[in-house]
Amino acid sequence: MQIPDALIERLRTAQSITVLTGAGVSAESGVPTFRDAQTGLWARYDPAELASPAAFRANPTLVWQWYAYRRALVAAAMPNPGHLALADLERRVADFTLITQNVDGLHHRAGSQNVVELHGNLFRYRCFDDNELVELTTAPPDEPPRCPQCGGLVRPDVVWFGEWLPSEAWRAAVASAERCELFLCIGTSGVVRPAADLPLIARSAGAYTVEINIAPGALDGRLDLHLYAPSGQLLPALMTAAFGAAA
Ligand code: APR
Repeated sequence: MQIPDALIERLRTAQSITVLTGAGVSAESGVPTFRDAQTGLWARYDPAELASPAAFRANPTLVWQWYAYRRALVAAAMPNPGHLALADLERRVADFTLITQNVDGLHHRAGSQNVVELHGNLFRYRCFDDNELVELTTAPPDEPPRCPQCGGLVRPDVVWFGEWLPSEAWRAAVASAERCELFLCIGTSGVVRPAADLPLIARSAGAYTVEINIAPGALDGRLDLHLYAPSGQLLPALMTAAFGAAA
């Protein structure tokens, strides 16, 4: 794919870059995207119907087991060349923020440092009742454990449908979208708000905004540049085009 010079130049010179990633960035690590059909045991469930407080209230065991399945998938997966390219980019830019909607922790495992997790993390837990974080060295696969403080059920520390984003993470995300010169929006369907507003906030504030996705979706035509290719291939190619051989 031809990479436009305007993007290469901005990658080389921008002092401030913000990136928003979604499930597509982890697809090439073998982690199914949220809106992919589920496979195996979980094929008959719609993730949107499992990822909600109402679903947990109705059937905590079912929801807990679904997250145990996702945790096992992610634990067996490795960061892909797209994750690694973003960690490399961070090392070259003075002000770099990686906002992710992913809960898989793969950006951290790839070496990214300044990561804003908008939707939480699969490997953290909190109490459904008192909301306090709960430390678990190993998460039992079958049943949610009980909160040591209040006896409530433990849930994954992820943001479910109908829940607010963690306010500090959201504030940091908006601030970085508003101050960056270059905003890359990678592997997200752009349908889940408010995360989907971030590229538009960046664009209104004057940033050059770029979408990277395998196919046109809700953001098509709304940013300055749209590149349609798998992020695990395109991101390393961008790094090579801007900085030469990969670090
Ligand atoms: N490279 C780039 N993009 C890809 C790739 C790839 N290899 N594979 C898939 N994609 C794109 C798809 O085309 C789609 O636009 O990634 C996007 C994944 O979309 P979703 O599954 O909707 O994931 P995401 O946008 O992260 O969802 C946002 O919604 O359900 C909630 O909390 C959940 O964080 C999630 C949020």
